[in-house]
Amino acid sequence: MAWITKNSGTMQIERRTEPYLTDEMKRDLEAKVVVRYPTRRASTLPCLHAVQEKYNYIPHQAIEEIGAFLGLPASEVLDTCTFYEMFFTQPRGKYVVWVCQSISCELLGHEKLMHGLEEKLGILPGETTPDGKITLMHAECLGACGGAPCALVSETMHENLTAENLERIIDSLP
Ligand code: FES
Repeated sequence: MAWITKNSGTMQIERRTEPYLTDEMKRDLEAKVVVRYPTRRASTLPCLHAVQEKYNYIPHQAIEEIGAFLGLPASEVLDTCTFYEMFFTQPRGKYVVWVCQSISCELLGHEKLMHGLEEKLGILPGETTPDGKITLMHAECLGACGGAPCALVSETMHENLTAENLERIIDSLP
C-alpha cells in the first residue's frame, strides 16, 4: 500500500466571513452535548456530527472553530475527524452509498454490488457523481451480517442485495 502524503505545512484553508459553528449551534451544543461529558474534548465527535449534519461536510474552517469552542488544537480535531470514514472534509453527494466489504458480504457478492454501481454511476469508491447526487464508499461491517450482502444508502440499511435490486434502489432516489 502506498502512503499518500499531503503538504499540510503550506495548505491554504478556504475561509468565509461567517462562522460555520454559529452562536446558535454553540449554545445548543453547550446545553445539550458538552454538559453530558466529563471533559470538553469528549464532545469532539458530536460537534463534528453537528457540523456535518448542517453543511453535509466538515470544512477545515469549521475544524478550527470546533477546536476553539472545545479548547483543543485544530490539529487534534482534524486527527479525530480524519480517523473516521463517516466524516467528510470535502463536499459529498446528497446520498452516500456505503457498500459493505467485510467478510460475510465479501463472500456473498459485495464485489458484484460495487462493480455494478461503479459501472452504472461512472465513479469509483470515494468519488461523487458529477451532478453531486451520489457518493460511493466502501464500508467495513455494517453490523447486518445475517443479511449479507448489504449496503447503507444514507440512513437506510438494505440487506440481501443483488446488483440489480441495489441499482433499482439507486434509481428510486429522488
Ligand atoms: S460483513 Fe457486511 S454487514 Fe457484516
